[in-house]
Parts: sequence; structure tokens; C-alpha cells
Amino acid sequence: MKKIICGNYEECCSAAADIFTEQLRQKPESVLGLATGSTPIGLYEQLVSRYDEGKIDFSRAKAFNLDEYYPIKQNHAQSYKTFMEEHLFDKVNFAQKHIPNGEASDVVAECARFDAELEAAGGIDLQLLGIGTNGHIGFNEPAVSYPLKSYMTQLSEDSLKSNSRFFTKGETQPTTALTMGIGQIFAAKQILMLISGANKTEITKKLFEGKLHTDVPACFLLLHPNVTVVLDKAAAGV
Ligand code: GLP
Repeated sequence: MKKIICGNYEECCSAAADIFTEQLRQKPESVLGLATGSTPIGLYEQLVSRYDEGKIDFSRAKAFNLDEYYPIKQNHAQSYKTFMEEHLFDKVNFAQKHIPNGEASDVVAECARFDAELEAAGGIDLQLLGIGTNGHIGFNEPAVSYPLKSYMTQLSEDSLKSNSRFFTKGETQPTTALTMGIGQIFAAKQILMLISGANKTEITKKLFEGKLHTDVPACFLLLHPNVTVVLDKAAAGV
């Protein structure tokens, strides 16, 4: 696991944007695995600026998002579909955009549909990940065992609490979600994890402790041959 410690969040986003830029330079038809949450927002801003400046082109790239709340209307202000449109998809020129459908009536069929699309695209070249304060990746929450492919998951108390900040009073916060499975994330050729802020210091410490904590989903990445973690000093605790 390669670790890049940056002075601040902006520098992290810039380092992460460099990795995306290089990926698309080398393989314009890349399959990019994308994430939501507050952490990737600065990276997406950088990607949009670089696109506006003609430095990066997504016209042959395919985007696959990690997860989506379930159930949620696709046009709900807090759906991950809306998030991606606002922060990236409406501002750059992806050839394809795939997100699990939060309003699908048949969850099993929806997961199978998403998995088939991902397989048809040939799997992920570069997967962006954040990390939950409990070590979740996508919405793979700490568990005894982990599905390899997409599935509906029960959100942990920790995730519900962390994400409650995005929902205003009167908005119902979903307690379940559809997420890519650990196997699909792990099959990515390259993984880029972005970690920022003092609220992530503890989980970051656990990730770098040199042990495979099986109740910390992010720890499985310790076994992956091509992971870069870009983190700021606050998250690194230095
Ligand atoms: C979210 C997403 C994750 C994300 C994580 C951390 O709910 N499901 O993919 O990495 O929680 O989010 P944040 O960056 O806001 O801390």
C-alpha cells in the first residue's frame, strides 16, 4: 500500500486528480469506479477544472459508482445519483455513467443488472474510495462475512449517524443501501483511497497498523497489489 501524505485537503485532491489524469492519458477508455461522501468533492472540482482547461477528457471513459441509498428517488436531493450529477457527471463528458438504481422495485434484479454492466465493461481500471469512520468502503459495513458482488446492505449506526448531516429535517434517511461487493472493488486494477480530516485519524491508524482487522472492510485493501492512499496530515495524525 503506497501512502502519500499531503499538507492539506487541497493538495490531496490535486494528487488524486493527477492519478486520474494519468490513468486517462494512458487509457482513455478506462472504467473508473467513483465514490460519494464529502471527501471526493474537492477531487471532482479539480477534475472539472482540468476538463474545462482541456487537460483531461472523459469521452471514452465509463463511470461506475460504488453505491446508492435504497430506497431513494433517483432525483432526491440526497441520492448519490444527484450528488454525482451535481459534482461531476453534468460537468464533464463521460461516455457512460452507471449507478445502482435506488428506486428499482426488485433489488436482486437491480444488483444483477449493475453487475452485468460492470462485467460487460471489463471491470474497473481505477477505483476511487473514501473510508467510513468505521472502516467501511462503499457501503460494505463491518461484518462477519462480505458478499463479493453487489447487494443490499443494512447501514450501520455509525454510517447513519455520519450521513445524517446531509439530510434535512423532514427528509427520511434510508437505512439500507445498494453497494458494490468487496470482490468487485478488490478486482480493480488500481485503487486510490482518499482520506481527509481529524475524524478519520483513528480508523487510518487502524488501517496502517499492520494487521488484517477483518471487521474493518478497508483492511482487505492491504492484500491488494496496487493501492495508493492519499491522505492529509490531519488524517495521518502528524
Ligand atoms: C459514504 C459512502 C462511502 C464514503 C464514506 C465516507 O457514505 N458510502 O463511499 O467513502 O461514506 O464519506 P465521507 O467522505 O463523507 O467521510
